[in-house]
Amino acid sequence: VKRITTNTIQEMKQKGEKIAMLTSYDYSMATIVDEGGIDVILVGDSASNVMAGHETTLPITLDQMIYHAASVVRAVKRALVVVDLPFGSYQGNSKEALNSAIRIMKESGAHAVKLEGGLEIRESVERIITAGIPVMGHLGLTPQSIYKFGTYTVRAKEEAEAEKLKQDILVLQEAGCFSVVLEKIPAKLAKEVTDSVKIPTIGIGAGQHCDGQVLVINDMIGLTKGFKPRFLRQYLNLFEEINGAVQSYVKDVKAGGFPNEKEQY
Ligand code: KIV
Ligand code: NA
Repeated sequence: VKRITTNTIQEMKQKGEKIAMLTSYDYSMATIVDEGGIDVILVGDSASNVMAGHETTLPITLDQMIYHAASVVRAVKRALVVVDLPFGSYQGNSKEALNSAIRIMKESGAHAVKLEGGLEIRESVERIITAGIPVMGHLGLTPQSIYKFGTYTVRAKEEAEAEKLKQDILVLQEAGCFSVVLEKIPAKLAKEVTDSVKIPTIGIGAGQHCDGQVLVINDMIGLTKGFKPRFLRQYLNLFEEINGAVQSYVKDVKAGGFPNEKEQY
């Protein structure tokens, strides 16, 4: 199979071909997602929520991100693997940012890193790219700043924040980012900024005009019970499927029906 690279992703925008991205955090899931034909796998710091059960993405560590990333990389044959730099591993110190990115690349074998923010992290982005590490940006709702925002509602509805986002995407393009995630912003603004840059935008809750789409795999297959924001299309209800399987197993074991004659040595 031909591997997807950052160049492939950029060519897709030029050809008007949409980019499909999903998260994965472990070997088994990444195998299925890669074989399903996904273009980009994001080892998101949403692992903090869906894997570790934290309320926010802030607690996850660089070591934990590397563990998830290495597990995913071992599974992937085709997709581009992008890894989130976790909270505290890059903000405000470009040397530390570079060291964190280098650790991810060396210790996991991933292909690129993702950082949240615009102008504030410009120096870090430039320094990482100078070292030869591709960077994906992330604007709009940036969950590592949740305590600054206060809520997970739609961002950049007001003119001032929309203006800053328009500037930030140009800063990220100028700094050399190969792509940018746009999270939870109005579709109209997403279209405007998508048209304003050469690099592909990948939306989550950012409407149909982005160059690509991303969802958290656990949400998309219905593993996260009760999480149903408007932007989420749930393709399966695996919570119910697995819950049903567990109930059947418990019933079988309790009734002495498992294992049967054929299922033993
Ligand atoms: O961590 C994550 O899953 C993400 C996506 C939602 C873009 O950053
Ligand atoms: Na993230």
